[in-house]
Amino acid sequence: MTIAPESRPLLPVATTPHYARGKRVAATCYWKCADQCAHPAPNVSANEYFRDVASRALSRRVMLGGMAVAAGAVVVGAEALGAEPAQAATLTGRGHGHGHGKGLSFGPIETQDRLVDDVVVPRGYEWSTIIRWGDPILPGGHAFDVTAQSEAQQKLQFGYNVDYLDILPEHPRDIRSMVETRRGRRGLLVTNHEYTNPDIMFDESYDEATKRAVQRAAHGMSVVEVVRRRTGDPWTYLRVAPKNRRVHMDTEFTIDGPVAGHDLMKTVEDPTGTTVRGTLNNCAGGTTPWGTVLSGEENWHGYFKVAGGDPRDARYGLSSSPTRYGWELDDPRFDTSNPGYENEHHRFGWVVEIDPYDPTAAPVKHTALGRFKHEGANVIVAPDKRVVAYMGDDEQFDYVYKFVSKNAMRNGHSHWARAHNKTLLSEGDLYVAKFTGDSPAAEIDGTGALPSDGAFDGTGEWLPLVVDGASAVPGMSVEEVLLFTRVAADTVGATKMDRPEDVEPNPFTGNVYVACTNNSSRGSSGREGATEPNPRNQNRDGHVVEIVEGDQTSTDFRWNLLLVAGDPSQNDSTYFSGFPADKVSPISCPDNVAFDQQGNLWISTDGQPSAIGRCDGIFRVTLTGRKRGNVEQFLSVPRSAEACGPLIDLRDEMVYVNVQHPGDDGSFAEPTSLFPDYLDAGERGPVGSWRGPRPSTVQVYKKRGRR
Ligand code: FEO
Ligand code: CA
Ligand code: CA
Repeated sequence: MTIAPESRPLLPVATTPHYARGKRVAATCYWKCADQCAHPAPNVSANEYFRDVASRALSRRVMLGGMAVAAGAVVVGAEALGAEPAQAATLTGRGHGHGHGKGLSFGPIETQDRLVDDVVVPRGYEWSTIIRWGDPILPGGHAFDVTAQSEAQQKLQFGYNVDYLDILPEHPRDIRSMVETRRGRRGLLVTNHEYTNPDIMFDESYDEATKRAVQRAAHGMSVVEVVRRRTGDPWTYLRVAPKNRRVHMDTEFTIDGPVAGHDLMKTVEDPTGTTVRGTLNNCAGGTTPWGTVLSGEENWHGYFKVAGGDPRDARYGLSSSPTRYGWELDDPRFDTSNPGYENEHHRFGWVVEIDPYDPTAAPVKHTALGRFKHEGANVIVAPDKRVVAYMGDDEQFDYVYKFVSKNAMRNGHSHWARAHNKTLLSEGDLYVAKFTGDSPAAEIDGTGALPSDGAFDGTGEWLPLVVDGASAVPGMSVEEVLLFTRVAADTVGATKMDRPEDVEPNPFTGNVYVACTNNSSRGSSGREGATEPNPRNQNRDGHVVEIVEGDQTSTDFRWNLLLVAGDPSQNDSTYFSGFPADKVSPISCPDNVAFDQQGNLWISTDGQPSAIGRCDGIFRVTLTGRKRGNVEQFLSVPRSAEACGPLIDLRDEMVYVNVQHPGDDGSFAEPTSLFPDYLDAGERGPVGSWRGPRPSTVQVYKKRGRR
């Protein structure tokens, strides 16, 4: 349903105490991340802070071989570091020989005030939802009725706060690469459900135990079959279809990889340490070339009350306080001081792989990819056919990782090839990134002012954590490295980043883009100050790092900052790869990244309302040619929502976005968002609808007659 903006009701838009500069909606921080940024960041390791100079010198020797190195004055020209990505494409052995000849044609939208409760799209486009929280997807599921939710019903209905999304073709053979997918008239929508907000989900008639049970059922993932009349038309979801599936806190997962079966994975429910119920706080993800979906377990720490006293738990922010969701009141496994459940929290924090083409297959938790607060994982195939997964650990001062599979991918989508490819993430090497700047430290003053060489850039090294099945970390076994990966990465001296969210390789160039969303603690008392890869103190707006890999399996790389984000009219520390700042759409808090079939970067944001006072949105960023660095806003999401996904399909001229946590700053009785149905008070909508926000998957398409 699409409703003209002028018909939408006005909402109470008076003062909103939930917003404070530098912080997002209080409810979002509380429910989504357990107020992670309000606590001291758990990375108190001294790795980069004190050992910077020595390791930098060492790193340069490793990287530059026999090149003469004057301390603090190595210069690698910006033009050689991927400032012209056509060159980077050559470097990686892949060109721009990609699919779609025409970019998406649109005029950038006006940025929207943070109180605007609307989806705003460019002229000539319209939008509708594909599916909303509570829509039934399995037999027996009732039409959503906000006054009659139950655990059993929620397990048959689409879950809550949507994050990662993809629409896979009916047959996996139509997935050619990360962006070369032929979506026909039938597809599989796959999405994550990251967290829940009971303050806006339930009226006062619900008892607390029911609310908790419904929320457990509203976490997880959904697979939903979708259909359309012809390519380019909007999709409709099927309420009953063979591949529809809900994954929730009672779904059985298989644990694989080196830590499966380890004593630290065993519980009284699972004495083998190889199976676990449920997945938690699933944030971003990635679709593999073999047609499975990866999903990151992110702020899982907030669901467990632990015994306390283990510094390895503290490194993940785990605490002995009661949890905000209170699930330990219903299920002993959420309090690891209960006998038999001492290891339950070790069974979360992994990358999950689900095969949407096989609704009976147990999803898998891959321990070979390490345990941290996984934003997501994105796979690319190296020239030797091994697969490489890039990952961010989204917390202030945490790290960027890559995994290189031991075995090579098999071509095709035969049963035999898929079965093999689904084992690729079970065994391989794990690395963590060290970024070294090439400008003198004195020139990185924390204001965001460019150093004298004109670029935030330098060299980097993938520091080994596990290689050839052996630990590369002194004093830690392979199992310990993978289970306590943050501790291992501290030990080897990884670079502390400003909350790395999506880390995704451009399928056409192999260059990797790291969305560092923000870090308001950088440079604060006792904390690491600005470094060349994170050049602003109190970094509220974030930045995007471009990594130029020699080969996807190389252990050294070069890097530069593509964007230093912000609203140029408010802030003179922004940088857009030399593109004029007064000509870009303001952008802040980059979160998810994606690529269209021309190799353009697309970014969705999470946090603009508090950082620059504007609604979050979706943006296209040009990476090549004279317009490199140009940022154009395509879409704006409603009040308090973050934009997730996104997915761009130039072939169909369609864009998809998950609208997560609309109206998080309201209450059930006083909603601050009416997205997506915009029913006014007293207006009777379809059965079961009500006046309040519903996280939804949205599709944007050309208006009829324009295609
Ligand atoms: Fe769930 Fe890092 O965003
Ligand atoms: Ca530099
Ligand atoms: Ca995210």
